[in-house]
Amino acid sequence: MVDVILGLQWGDEGKGKIVDFFARDYDLIARFQGGPNAGHTLYIKDKKVVLHQIPSGVFHEGVTNLIGNGVVLDPVTLKRESETVSGFGIDLKKNLFISERTHLILPTHRALDKAAELSKGNEKIGSTLKGIGPTYMDKTGRNGLRVGDLLDKDFTASYSRLKSKHQTLLDNYSFNEDISAWEDEFFEAVELLKQMNIVNGEYFINHKLQQGKRVLAEGAQGSMLDIDFGTFPFVTSSSTITAGVCSGLGVAPQKIKEVIGVTKAYCTRVGSGPFPTELTDETGEQLRQTGHEFGATTGRPRRCGWIDLVALRFACMINGVTKLVMTKADVLDAFKELQVCTAYKINGKETDEIPFQMTRMNIEPVYRKFDGWNVSTGAAKSPKDLPEAMKIYADFINNQLGVNIHYVSNGPGREQIVPLFDK
Ligand code: GDP
Ligand code: IMO
Ligand code: MG
Repeated sequence: MVDVILGLQWGDEGKGKIVDFFARDYDLIARFQGGPNAGHTLYIKDKKVVLHQIPSGVFHEGVTNLIGNGVVLDPVTLKRESETVSGFGIDLKKNLFISERTHLILPTHRALDKAAELSKGNEKIGSTLKGIGPTYMDKTGRNGLRVGDLLDKDFTASYSRLKSKHQTLLDNYSFNEDISAWEDEFFEAVELLKQMNIVNGEYFINHKLQQGKRVLAEGAQGSMLDIDFGTFPFVTSSSTITAGVCSGLGVAPQKIKEVIGVTKAYCTRVGSGPFPTELTDETGEQLRQTGHEFGATTGRPRRCGWIDLVALRFACMINGVTKLVMTKADVLDAFKELQVCTAYKINGKETDEIPFQMTRMNIEPVYRKFDGWNVSTGAAKSPKDLPEAMKIYADFINNQLGVNIHYVSNGPGREQIVPLFDK
């Protein structure tokens, strides 16, 4: 069976930490979408590691990791990350596999991402500039190059053909930065990638399933950044939701069992786009400072606000979430009063549904107030260590979403997580 861990907000919910925590119960951890736009933070032997391309199960002995076909892969990031991970004594030759259908991010994709963002001015998406949009465009436009193509003797010719198509587009944008250094590092990194375990990902994973192995699919970004259901056009270019697991790994829908949705106890967003519960005042600043809310990939300050149950209810619906994990609960320790958004008021009318677009309208969140707990929770190990006010806050969320919080994460550390039910 396949279980899924994915983000229910606008990314950075703490998926990496949660995948690392659960990984010991699985045989295979598989990334199904996204690319180096992701930044998944883990603490290994008290050292902070941010993973962008490699699945978050990589630090567990005996657990295999797969980069699935739905991912877009930048060989340069992969090389850098492989060096970091190998520094911890991990042998990637043993535990990392890459699907031959995974699309490659070329240097010109990164250039196109930058050129497109510059051309948009104030309307920019706030992309991570990792080349994500242009690479997925080449996938659906049927132009892209895949990991398996690297093993073809004609790869350099195919690369040159695609590069010249990109050059025409770059000329149109009047983009004339010299990217030859990017190309040098790309070709150097490709040599390493060619030595890695390149496999037919769909047979690889299905054979494991036939052998009764347990698979965990790791999402990147979050449901509100999904290409179809997110706050379009301020989204990423992949299917970040449960449905993406099937197309991004080649597993059938009946194989999916638990869908574990991760949400912060509040909410953040990095980049442009609507964010109804955003706080631009000192409370927002306090959340940012206490939660260290700065992007793991770009270092940008994250926008912060209260938890949004309208968006979470929507995310639970489209993903079929069966269990919730609430992260960063400890960040709320110092707040006297908390607010929870239960509905939106649009043109004087209250709704509990996500509208088709949220950019050209004024959305006023309807809040319900809760008392804060005002005690430090970072050392809690079991439900009895958690303050009553936090339980009331969590119960309200459970009832509103119709799904229960099974774990509360109370710090960035590997073991800082409190199970609320038996597994
Ligand atoms: P991801 O992209 O969903 O994996 O999340 P990120 O790694 O981008 O951002 C989550 C940040 O919060 C990281 O810095 C984590 O170390 C940190 N973090 C995760 N869980 C907790 C938690 O429960 N409490 C606190 N204080 N920090 C956490
Ligand atoms: P993880 O996996 C938060 C945001 C960008 C931008 C939009 C499009 O760490 O949760 P892109 O580079 O994908 O074209 O950018 O999506 N974004 C993320 N925000 N966490 C992420 O990943 C993100 N990946 C992309 O900031 O607004
Ligand atoms: Mg992140």
